[in-house]
Amino acid sequence: MTFKKNILCIGAGYVGGPTMAMIAHKCPHYKVTVVDINPTRIAEWNSDDLPIYEPGLDNIVKSTRGKNLFFSTEIEHGIKEAEIIFVSVNTPVKTFGAGAGMAADLQYWEKTARQILKCSESSKIIVEKSTFPVRTAFAMERILSLTENDIHFDVLSNPEFLAEGTAIKDLEYPDRVLIGSRETPSCVKARDELIEIYSNWVPKDRIITSNIWSSELSKLVANAFLAQRISSINSFTAFCEKSEADINEVARAIGMDSRLGNKFLNSSVGWGGSCFKKDILNLVYLCRHYGLDEVANYWEAVVSINEYQKERFALTILSAMFNTLAGKKICLFGFAFKANTGDTRESPAIFIAKKLIEEKAELVITDPRALNNAKIDLNGIDGKISYIEDPYEASDGCDAIAVMTEWEIYKNLDFEKIYQSMVKPAFIFDGRNILNHKRLFDIGFNVFPIGKPPLTHF
Ligand code: NAD
Ligand code: UGA
Repeated sequence: MTFKKNILCIGAGYVGGPTMAMIAHKCPHYKVTVVDINPTRIAEWNSDDLPIYEPGLDNIVKSTRGKNLFFSTEIEHGIKEAEIIFVSVNTPVKTFGAGAGMAADLQYWEKTARQILKCSESSKIIVEKSTFPVRTAFAMERILSLTENDIHFDVLSNPEFLAEGTAIKDLEYPDRVLIGSRETPSCVKARDELIEIYSNWVPKDRIITSNIWSSELSKLVANAFLAQRISSINSFTAFCEKSEADINEVARAIGMDSRLGNKFLNSSVGWGGSCFKKDILNLVYLCRHYGLDEVANYWEAVVSINEYQKERFALTILSAMFNTLAGKKICLFGFAFKANTGDTRESPAIFIAKKLIEEKAELVITDPRALNNAKIDLNGIDGKISYIEDPYEASDGCDAIAVMTEWEIYKNLDFEKIYQSMVKPAFIFDGRNILNHKRLFDIGFNVFPIGKPPLTHF
């Protein structure tokens, strides 16, 4: 079969895999190949057990794989064949040298750019899909212009806004697709080619264009605003707990103001995920680089409040349980950083688990999708930790339950049965405010929600 276009994606992760599966699904006339340096990951993409859990992903991959969607480790071949290359490699925070802990570590990205340069035998469009610092496209253009033959590269910015757990829905019905480009005739032509791909399923008015630096910056700003909103509501949970106000009532009242809206107002043990913290710290680093210290401090506080929230949650557990956790068994309900994913990167559960272990508590961790990642995250930690998928079995004989992830299944458990099996007095710390607190209290639990007065039998 001959295809109209050859699309390559470098990086088969949480973004590369689902994004390319959606393009392949919506554009059967394009050949889409996803490559990665990690052979295990590629083998998993080619198996029945995909490397990431995402509702709806299995069906799309199974219906396109081997037809117009391919997963491979043959990066050089993929580069040679492609007309359009999406770069979707990871961009973690630098752990060494200048900017350690804040700046983006761009080694994966630079290796990719140099490999594209080395292997290309024809001109190509390069699409930044990963989240990069502002002006990365400039550096990418510089590297790609080192070519000694007639080959030409046009670099576009096309940041991804999908959220894990809802990736397929977000990709199929995006609020917007953003494409940043320069205004040269060649770049505008490249931009039109990318618009043509998305036009196969995204309404034209949702595909917006901007200058390339605005596009790169918009991605960082979007994540900063989203995280800021959660940090804002979480900062008031502390206030509510002191003043006997109820954070859910406050969120409802402010969310009905159409200027504010009601989304992203769920208070929690803290936000997690691989991107919010790294993207904000990267933004903070860039602000400082430009001498904008006040702006940097403002956004850094969004991260500080999140650290404070996680710390506060751990301290609530300690003080509620009579200031000692030594030898007590605590069951963590959920380990993923949010529901409907097995991803645990920067999950607040990692922080809480470590704090509780430091207090010499014994941990039992349950999660429908994230136990394998939890084991990796807590590997080598000196403490007693067990991993049990069934929440009834996991909480059996425990002194306390702490809800870390808002999995739907936790809302409908038989808490009478759970209470009977636990050590008394039994505690529940609801880090997501998803349970029926009054009912739990009536069963006999001492209940500690977030941002609401506790319900205790003492
Ligand atoms: P990930 O770690 O899941 O995947 C990245 C993949 O790139 C890995 O499999 C890695 O092996 C591969 N890789 C690294 N260097 C490579 C190279 N030189 N050649 C080939 N493959 C290489 O990361 P992710 O979560 O998919 O994130 C990727 C980017 O997308 C990041 O910049 C992130 O900020 C951004 N982003 C992520 C999300 C999300 O929900 N995870 C959403 C929007 C944007
Ligand atoms: C986030 C953004 O929502 C995406 O638009 C963006 O593309 C992505 O980051 C990225 O760049 O990686 P994601 O981290 O997958 O997506 O998930 P979110 O739904 O944003 O949740 C992030 C964290 O905030 C989770 O820990 C979640 O539980 C928490 N959260 C979310 C709350 O505590 N309260 C809320 O009201 C919403």
